[in-house]
Amino acid sequence: MYRSHTCGELRVEHIGRKVQLAGWVQRVRDLGAMSFIDLRDRYGITQLVTDENTPQTVTDIKEKLGREFVIQASGTVRERSSKNNNIPTGDVEIALTDIKILSTSSVPPFTIQDDTDGGDELRMKYRYLDLRRSAVRKNLELRARMAHSVRSYLTAHDFIEVETPVLIKSTPEGARDFVVPSRMNPGEFYALPQSPQIFKQLLMVAGFDKYFQIVKCFRDEDLRADRQPEFTQIDCEMSFVEQEDVLNTFEGLTRHVFKQVLNVEVGTFPRMPFSEAMERYGSDKPDIRFEMQLQELTNEVKGKGFPVFDSAEYIGGISAKGCAGYTRKQTDELTEWVKRPQIGSKGLVFVKYNEDGTFKSSVDKYYTQEDLQLWAEKLNAMPGDLMLILSGEKNQTTKALGELRINMGNRLGLRKKGSFEPLWVVDFPLLEWDEESQRFFAMHHPFTSPKPEDIPLLDSNPGTVRANAYDLVINGVEIGGGSVRIFDSELQAKMFDILGFTSEQAKAQFGFLMNAFKYGAPPHAGIAFGFDRLISLFAGIDSIRDVIAFPKNNSGRDVMNDSPAPVSQEQLKELNLKITLPEE
Ligand code: AMO
Repeated sequence: MYRSHTCGELRVEHIGRKVQLAGWVQRVRDLGAMSFIDLRDRYGITQLVTDENTPQTVTDIKEKLGREFVIQASGTVRERSSKNNNIPTGDVEIALTDIKILSTSSVPPFTIQDDTDGGDELRMKYRYLDLRRSAVRKNLELRARMAHSVRSYLTAHDFIEVETPVLIKSTPEGARDFVVPSRMNPGEFYALPQSPQIFKQLLMVAGFDKYFQIVKCFRDEDLRADRQPEFTQIDCEMSFVEQEDVLNTFEGLTRHVFKQVLNVEVGTFPRMPFSEAMERYGSDKPDIRFEMQLQELTNEVKGKGFPVFDSAEYIGGISAKGCAGYTRKQTDELTEWVKRPQIGSKGLVFVKYNEDGTFKSSVDKYYTQEDLQLWAEKLNAMPGDLMLILSGEKNQTTKALGELRINMGNRLGLRKKGSFEPLWVVDFPLLEWDEESQRFFAMHHPFTSPKPEDIPLLDSNPGTVRANAYDLVINGVEIGGGSVRIFDSELQAKMFDILGFTSEQAKAQFGFLMNAFKYGAPPHAGIAFGFDRLISLFAGIDSIRDVIAFPKNNSGRDVMNDSPAPVSQEQLKELNLKITLPEE
């Protein structure tokens, strides 16, 4: 037996007991005749003590200990003379009677404690040491609790967990595939799944009725704080359901996990059409924890001789509470911010609604106080507020205002961690026009069903067709997305046609799905949650990297094992591959 208790277990009621613990040496403090060793494992830290009564053999071994040595320690639990209220075991300590070094350790490259001195890159390189830190481990414990909670809910609701393959044929979810060469089929490749989309639909054809899987997905796309090349979905599909059934089921799941894991009650999720989200929040993933909604001002501001506004398709603004006192430096900063290429506005007009009821704007030359009063009414501005106005092409401008709203929300501390406001965004457009390739793309994926009432528009005006597609958004983060599927092979063929697939291409890529649909496909619909995003939301951290045991960095590298990496010539030969790197 290595241990009788864990390092997080001993309390006052254990005083007098002989115990045996095992763990890592967090630190050793020598105070003259006495020495203290903090022994750490997953469950906590327990203080070990040597003093003048400790056998010499034990003291001799203690002299050899260093940080992160793995030891086995035996002794008697006793009350501490100075208690530590910061840790649950802080009332007791172990008077050592024996100690055994199980494993020595080199000096770790950073200190393994909550406020570590290790930088990001170093901690990633030694991720196994970083994972010893309780801050990081807590995130993974949360992850495991959430996975358990999801499984228990879905299983109780008759969902079956089914594993789908990882070596597959490409599934289109809008990103690039990672590909894997096949040794046995020279010149041919598998793709890693961007999602199990087609398989879960086939499981519905197979009559599984309710499926789920907590599953790795792979997407070769540019990385951000909320994107990893391999990430995890809670992937689900149901048969004989309509959109409403799916929303209710997964609202139930979300509420259950919030309650069970965080003890947080989230109310009924509001539903907002995509068009309304764009108009009011300038985003298809609105953060509804705060107001500051967008208002259109096009009619109010045109025709007063200000050329920028007069020539704009759309003019709109937001009102930032209590910001009328912003300095020149602050407004300049905001102007520079909206001009960044990611936002893409040409400039920012601001109007200060002074406490005395007067207005001061950057366009005073063109607009009277009465004009500005009218803007204030439209924007629900009060004395003390700052109105921020952007103009330009409608889509770009509403998105830019949406970004500005989030930026102001951050500045004003309105995006509070620990408060959660979920909603469903519904009625997404079915198709998205791509100027560059002059063709339509599926906004969600090609298997998404149009709204039945919009089907006639597929021929006359496809760009206006709405889909039975929905996203779960919480605090401005897209947590999940899904849709009602097409289950009619003729409608599916028509979709492929609109998306620019020839019937040969469609057959080559999705023939098996269309074939399957010939044998009795039930009406079905589903959703996938971004599990990593949901966990980081629960943990109150911004990057999903911190909730993944072994994540990739922003260049898609695992700096710990240094991958991706070249493979040997023999391996390439076996795979019938020849690598020619493009010239610099
Ligand atoms: P979608 O592409 O919307 O839908 O993905 C579902 C959810 O997965 C998360 N997500 C990611 N998380 C981390 N890193 C990434 N690179 C990443 N990409 C996506 C998001 C997203 O909402 N098969 C469909 C679902 C369906 O129709 O049932 C799908 O994959 O939180």
